[in-house]
Amino acid sequence: MLLLRRCLSLTRFGPLNTQRSQVAPTVCAAHLWSSSSSSDDQRSNQRTHGPSWRHGLAGLLAGTGAVLVYGLHKHKAEQADTNRLEAIEPTSSHPIFSQEEVTKHRSLEDGVWVTYKGGVYDITEFVAMHPGGNKILLAAGGPLEPFWALYAVHNQEHVLEILSEYKVGELSAEDLKKQQAVKSSDPYSSDPERHPVLRINSLKPFNAEPPAEILTDNYITPSALFFKRNHLPVPQVDPDSYRLCVEGLPGGALTLSLEDLKTKFPKHTITATLQCAGNRRAEMNKVKLVKGLNWGIAAISNASWSGAKLRDVLLAAGYEPDVAKWARHVQFEGLDKDVTGTTYGSSIPINKAVSEEGDVLLAYEMNGEALPADHGFPVRVVVPGTVGARNVKWLGKIVVSGEESNSHWQQNDYKGFSPGTDWDTVDFKSAPAVQELPIQSAITAPADGAMVDRSEEEVTVQGYAWSGGGREVVRVDVSVDLGKTWQVAQLRTSDKGQEREPSPPPGRAWAWKLWEVTVPIPPGAKELEIICKAVDNSYNVQPDTVAPIWNLRGVLSNAWHRVTVKVREDEDEE
Ligand code: MTE
Repeated sequence: MLLLRRCLSLTRFGPLNTQRSQVAPTVCAAHLWSSSSSSDDQRSNQRTHGPSWRHGLAGLLAGTGAVLVYGLHKHKAEQADTNRLEAIEPTSSHPIFSQEEVTKHRSLEDGVWVTYKGGVYDITEFVAMHPGGNKILLAAGGPLEPFWALYAVHNQEHVLEILSEYKVGELSAEDLKKQQAVKSSDPYSSDPERHPVLRINSLKPFNAEPPAEILTDNYITPSALFFKRNHLPVPQVDPDSYRLCVEGLPGGALTLSLEDLKTKFPKHTITATLQCAGNRRAEMNKVKLVKGLNWGIAAISNASWSGAKLRDVLLAAGYEPDVAKWARHVQFEGLDKDVTGTTYGSSIPINKAVSEEGDVLLAYEMNGEALPADHGFPVRVVVPGTVGARNVKWLGKIVVSGEESNSHWQQNDYKGFSPGTDWDTVDFKSAPAVQELPIQSAITAPADGAMVDRSEEEVTVQGYAWSGGGREVVRVDVSVDLGKTWQVAQLRTSDKGQEREPSPPPGRAWAWKLWEVTVPIPPGAKELEIICKAVDNSYNVQPDTVAPIWNLRGVLSNAWHRVTVKVREDEDEE
């Protein structure tokens, strides 16, 4: 009921207005792609330390969400706001150091020391073993707390245990007091308000999905309910001083204001579904633990997006046939940064970017309104048919390049591997970055564990289906007898009772289809496993089970979706 009430109020008020306008972004002048730790780094660490913690500490110190993910061996760590910061017990056996003494240790030559909650830690050995550790040095000689303020999600016991191995002393009481007086400001304090109905997977950074049972109530997901996937604090961008920089083309950089984007280029609108690579990761976790947020089936949503076509902007910036001889990728850089100044980034193939049919937008509107802060205000890239990770929000820079983005999220994340690959053997260079996503479908009603009445004789099953690369979903099959027999569901591309959207041109089916089918409850069944699977117009189908597609990051989880419901017999009701 509470859920229903919240949803009703949501429908009444529409999306929350959450934009803020304050700080002007620094674009064009800012450094571009920062390097992230290579698998060579990983191997060299492995020689000295076990794999379970090596990246955890690197991330802990460096503040790169990317590296941190490696260190998180338990997915539960990412599930909620982790306000579990506990001090490592001071022990009297350690010597006392002043802050001045700690500050002297800021290099490999002098040793690399950090403080945390009054403890002093000598992490020189770790840094020496980690060639990508230049970022770690940013914390050298000072407190770790500001780094952890950015990655609150990593304040966990097992990371503290790792750190405790490096403890060499205590900070003097006087200096500890001084440190505590300088409160590190919470970089997430200016994050926008969010709708309370969202199911939060991590609070800082904010990651949340709508409850599955309301996900398909609307063909167009209300912006406030649209799943939110942030790796970093939401940047506050002043729309008046916002500038988008386009680089890498003959003729030099082109700088565009928001006004330029709105007035100098035709406005296009598309309806497109975004899906996170980690959607349905929870099902992979049930097979074997993976690293990553424990997304249910709702890290996917559908919206209408308006903006300038990336193709038009690239042409205005000097894209010409000759460029196609060397350009292979278009890189995007967000304005969201970690403490080291590293921004979110990723890239897409140039063909997708410049194709007339690619429909890649530099979107400034979502569902007919300015983009909400969580979804990239004032401008984001919408790459329809492509994994969420490439749809860069708070867009600051576009670079046409011969290379993919060097960002962690392009190079060392969002890639698929064999179920046989583990964290000791994985080589991220060996796999391509995920771009187009595979065929997907899931059941949103009835919910797993729900009760259906025998007296009803049938049950109505609903859900969503979508495929990447503009491939159109042509069929959804539903079974209630473990796949022996199947019924074909009815597909729709609009809200119930509303006029159907015209069919998309071939290869440009960017939006999901919602589906529904009524199936008879088999006689004698006490429990019903309901299964769905979708088929796209390339006749791609979903795999039947999770285990053969399991991978260590829990991405691309698209096996047949199953929910189990209990059948309440008539006498149960009496
Ligand atoms: N862009 C920036 N700048 N920063 C981010 O953290 N997250 C990416 C992508 N673009 C991200 C980003 C990921 S992983 C996903 S799935 C989508 O944004 C989610 O978009 P949404 O929050 O609008 O649903």
